[in-house]
Parts: sequence; C-alpha cells; structure tokens
Amino acid sequence: MPSDIRHADLVVNRSDHLKAKPRLDPIELKFGAVYTDHMLQVSWKEGPGWTGPSIDPLAPLTLHPCAQVLHYGSGCFEGMKAYKGKDQRLRLFRPDMNMERLSRSAARLTLPEFDKVELLECIKELVRLERDWVPAEEGFSLYIRPALIGTHPFLGLSPTREAMLFVVLSPVGPYFPTGLKPVKLFVETEVVRAYPGGVGDKKVGGNYAPTMLPQLRSAHRGCAQVLYVLQDGLPGGGLVGESGAMNVFFLLQENGMMELITPPLDGLILPGVTRDTVLAIARGFGNIKVSERNLRFDEIEHAAETGRLVEIFGTGTACAVQPITGLLKNDNTEITIPFDSEAAAHWLAKPPGMALAQPGSNEPFSLCGRLTRTLIDFQYGYVDSPWSVPI
Ligand code: COI
Repeated sequence: MPSDIRHADLVVNRSDHLKAKPRLDPIELKFGAVYTDHMLQVSWKEGPGWTGPSIDPLAPLTLHPCAQVLHYGSGCFEGMKAYKGKDQRLRLFRPDMNMERLSRSAARLTLPEFDKVELLECIKELVRLERDWVPAEEGFSLYIRPALIGTHPFLGLSPTREAMLFVVLSPVGPYFPTGLKPVKLFVETEVVRAYPGGVGDKKVGGNYAPTMLPQLRSAHRGCAQVLYVLQDGLPGGGLVGESGAMNVFFLLQENGMMELITPPLDGLILPGVTRDTVLAIARGFGNIKVSERNLRFDEIEHAAETGRLVEIFGTGTACAVQPITGLLKNDNTEITIPFDSEAAAHWLAKPPGMALAQPGSNEPFSLCGRLTRTLIDFQYGYVDSPWSVPI
C-alpha cells in the first residue's frame, strides 16, 4: 500500500537566516515578489507513494532537465490566503475548497492523489511557523501558493512516475499595482482561454502561460487585464468568459430590479472560491437576483447603452473584489461604468457585521463596496463564519 501525506510525519528544519519583513506599502509590496523564510515540500514516487513532508528553508528546487513539468506542463497550483485579525489570530478562508480543487486539477493531469486533510494540516503548520510574516492590516494578507508538479525525467508522453508538492508563502497587498482603484479590461475576442472539453475549469499552469501575450497587448492599450469573450462562429460565440486572474460579475438593472450575473460553471470557468463566496453573500442580501447564467457581450453593450449597467467587478483570491470601470474593444470604442468611490468608501468604513444589515433608504449604493466589507469581516474574523478557519 503506497503511503500518503501524513501531518504526523512532518519534519521542521528552521532557517538560520531570517529575512527582514517588508513594509506594508501597496506599491513596494508588489504581489508575489516577496517570499517568507520557509517552504513545505513532499515528494512522491510510483510504488512507495509520498515521502516527507518537511518544512525547510526556502531554496531553489533541483530538477532534472527532462522533468515532465518543464516540457509538458504537468503542473497545477492553488491560491489561498492567511489573514491576521485585530485579535492577532491567524485564519484561512474556505481552505477545503482549495484542497478539493488542487485534487481535481491533479487528477486531470494524472498527477498523484493526496490526503487533502493531512496536506491542509501541514500547510497550517507552515503558516503558524511564519506567523510574523502575516500582515495584520486590512487589504494585506499572506498569499499561500501550493503547487504540484510532475518531476519524472522522461521525454515520452506518459503519466508521471515522480512528483513533488511544495508550498511557498508571500506577504501581499492589492493584486493590481493601482491598489484598490478600479481597472479597465481589454475585450479579447481573438484569443480563446478555454474551450469545451478543455481544462478551463482546472488550475493548471497551461491555462495561464498563453494568457501572457494577450495581457501584454492589453497593457499596451492601458488595460490591466483582458476579458475573454468567445469568438463568434465558435460554439458559445459572443459569450463572456472570465479574465485571466479573476471571475467576472455584471450588475444590471431592469425596472428597478437588480440582477447580478456571472457565467456558469460549464467547464470553461474556473470555480473560484471568492466567486462562490460572493454569490452566497449576494444571495443573502436578498434584494438582488443572483444568476449564474450565460451572458452575451452584446447584452452588456446594450445594457450600457440604455443605462442599465450598474457595476462590473472581478473576483479572485489574489484580487479579492476588484472594481472594473471600463471595457475597451479592439475598435477602440469603450464601455465605461462610472465607479462611485465615495459610495464604496462608505461601505468599506462600516463597523463589523453592519454591511450585512439591510441598507438604509438614504445610504449610497455600492455592491462592490458592500461585498468587499462583508468579505473582509469574515476573512479577518470580525464576524464569525464557518468559512473562516482559525489556525
Ligand atoms: C489567485 O487568485 O489566487 C490566482 O491564482 C490568480 C493568479 C493569476 C495570481
């Protein structure tokens, strides 16, 4: 019987050289550029199974140049965060969902199965060891990046016989260099991110590398990211998908009724943890119709022309809830959605739990602000929630 990952076997080798902690400045603390002192690693071989796990000083990996991940992209990963509340306690947010998704991504790539509960216990140990790296300020957190890669040195195409799972940690502030300011997206209709029967709903590296080129092109046109819209002529042509690093939401109004829409989990969309959470919170607000449904880009254009497009935002672990104020098309026409920063600030300043209460009749409207405040209240432990896991 091959062995599995076991928290009880975890060995901790502490580093002698602890680095200085960074200043919590959204500009200086560039997302994903600063790492803590230690990493978790555990390796797998066909036959004996998993050996380890260990926490070691952060160090480069040694890989054979023919390791499968280097040639065939047999690698998947996760994005999670640890938060430190005013009570100085550390919390993870719905980490079981990340373990489940990592396991599904791994299965799709024939990477080895692992015990999700035991792996999570090892990750908690790593975060506890690095607790001084977890920023105790709203908007800042410790990003957790587990990755599972095929390491077998073999140039033939076949399921890997060796693998490695490692976890690194990075203190982060806002994902976008603009901080929490709203961003503009380029409407990408030439490049396809995901297609039926593909792996758009898995967190595999191969989904991300091909998005760099469209992202670079969109940056040249002043956009932070792209919004993928399936090409006309393909099955689902004209439908809105997601943005490279976030799921997208559109708030439309019709005869005084609001509808919050995000594309359904049809295999083309990453099942985001923040996506799922925002859907649940918005449903709880009660006065908004919340729909997971297909949305054509021309429906958004029409809603914008007729003054019915109220808000657009992206969601993701890295970016949390990111307001979007513009959609730039290839012909240089642009849909703009005014962002009411005062209304958002009003909601962000609410005391713990108050964003969940029904708004007063004279309160300004900002779904983005209200959702962000509610999410922060749960994540930092200001409001009790079964989603928040103290460690
Ligand atoms: C995340 O939100 O955790 C992601 O993995 C997105 C990544 C492109 C930063």
